[in-house]
Amino acid sequence: MIAVCTECIERNFSKSNFLIKLYGLYYRNIVKNEVKLAGIRSCDRILCIGGGPIPSTAIEMARQTDACVHVIDMDGTAVVCARDVIKKLGLAHKITVEQARGEEVDISPYNVIHVALQVRPKEAVLRHIWNNCKLGARIIVRMPKKGLRSFYSNVTDAFIERNSDYVSFDSSGLCANTMDKTLLMVKA
Ligand SMILES: C[S@@+](CC[C@H](N)C(=O)[O-])C[C@H]1O[C@@H](n2cnc3c(N)ncnc32)[C@H](O)[C@@H]1O
Repeated sequence: MIAVCTECIERNFSKSNFLIKLYGLYYRNIVKNEVKLAGIRSCDRILCIGGGPIPSTAIEMARQTDACVHVIDMDGTAVVCARDVIKKLGLAHKITVEQARGEEVDISPYNVIHVALQVRPKEAVLRHIWNNCKLGARIIVRMPKKGLRSFYSNVTDAFIERNSDYVSFDSSGLCANTMDKTLLMVKA
């Protein structure tokens, strides 16, 4: 339900440069914390899974780090819309968008992989990334607030316990109303 609303808002906002900018403000500090948490630099190759019609996470990552970002979304209409937004913002040299599913995409070129809050099935996507990413890769997963967990696809406690040596959580500076922590996994 929340995921559908987000997509609907993004699709409508994507028609206006002003609304794209306004929408991006929500993500600015969230991404700032994620960039710090994962130590993202301009030389990193970033994959954003679940970019949506306005790929604000990718836009902020590219702007804040100057790294190249590849965005995927399983929804073809979101991809067409996102490409248009990226072109309008003059970021086509930094951000590419493609239709693909997070649980199937080739992970090997990337050393930073970002999983959006609305991605589903989240654990299958995370398992695919973890099994196929290279050593040293950092995986960032947005986690919903406890009271909102039933509205999203979630990573199970069993997965987190099984991989506890590689998992950490951060909740510093998060003022988003849908998430309360960020999961970071570092491949070793
Ligand atoms: C509405 S967006 C929100 C993301 C936000 N715009 C951002 O920049 O972080 C979430 C998108 O995730 C996509 N999505 C969900 N599960 C996915 C998966 N397994 N693989 C690829 N895309 C996925 C949906 O199609 C939707 O467009």
